[in-house]
Amino acid sequence: MNKRAETLTAIGDLAANIAHEIRNPLGSIELFASLIMKEGRDEKVRNRASQIIRSVRNVDTTLSNLLLFARELNPVMKRVNLLGVLREIVAFAQDIIEKENISFSVSYADVDLYVEGDTELLKQVFLNLVLNAYQAMPDGGHLHIETKRSERRGEEGKSQQSYADVSFVDTGTGIPPENIQRIFNPFFTTREKGAGIGLAIVHNIVDVHGGTIDVESGKTGGTVFHVTFPLMREYDTGLSRNIKVG
Ligand SMILES: Nc1ncnc2c1ncn2[C@@H]1O[C@H](COP(=O)(O)OP(=O)(O)O)[C@@H](O)[C@H]1O
Ligand SMILES: [Mg+2]
Repeated sequence: MNKRAETLTAIGDLAANIAHEIRNPLGSIELFASLIMKEGRDEKVRNRASQIIRSVRNVDTTLSNLLLFARELNPVMKRVNLLGVLREIVAFAQDIIEKENISFSVSYADVDLYVEGDTELLKQVFLNLVLNAYQAMPDGGHLHIETKRSERRGEEGKSQQSYADVSFVDTGTGIPPENIQRIFNPFFTTREKGAGIGLAIVHNIVDVHGGTIDVESGKTGGTVFHVTFPLMREYDTGLSRNIKVG
């Protein structure tokens, strides 16, 4: 395990422990509050009990999210066309994000980009990056997604490897230089309602796919997230032997 993965696992374990410790007493608080709601004769008291229950449920939702983050990634690797995954996310995002002043463009590579990956996890990567871009453009803007195939020469003795390159280019607020180093850290957020785990999860998922993620952000605003995934070698039977095609 690399250092980053170790840190994340440690934080994940801690988060999961704390979440479980809080869940139990939270359960009794909810139980007693609901008894007061049922048995209380005074309406004012019953209202207060119902407010307690509502707050308890909010905390419970937060704990559920925390546990989701703490859960280990168990990728199910298959042959996946990255462009298909991206198409799905773009359609989904256009459905759920209703902001007229944000425009959207995608340039699809003219070849299919097959990677060995977990479709659901790859969707999470793209969705998180798209949502972050939207959230960084409160006054409107443009998000462009660029996909291409690139070749990189391997180290000496190693053969050339092809990659799927996917860039998310937004015209949002940008990221100040003092924050750039921290955005992938768990729980780092600058948003009032943010949890700060989106990019930590994205980084994890990219790692388990053998990919890379970089960020560029200018002073004048606008951010580019650049993700790469190694493409499957079509004729490498060693790689595709244990992989379901789908
Ligand atoms: N496209 C972007 N433009 C500007 N800032 C960004 C962008 N993506 C991420 N960030 C910064 O990185 C922080 C962490 O992002 P993330 O891990 O997704 O957590 P959250 O979205 O909950 O804040 C954000 O709070 C924001 O400050
Ligand atoms: Mg986010």
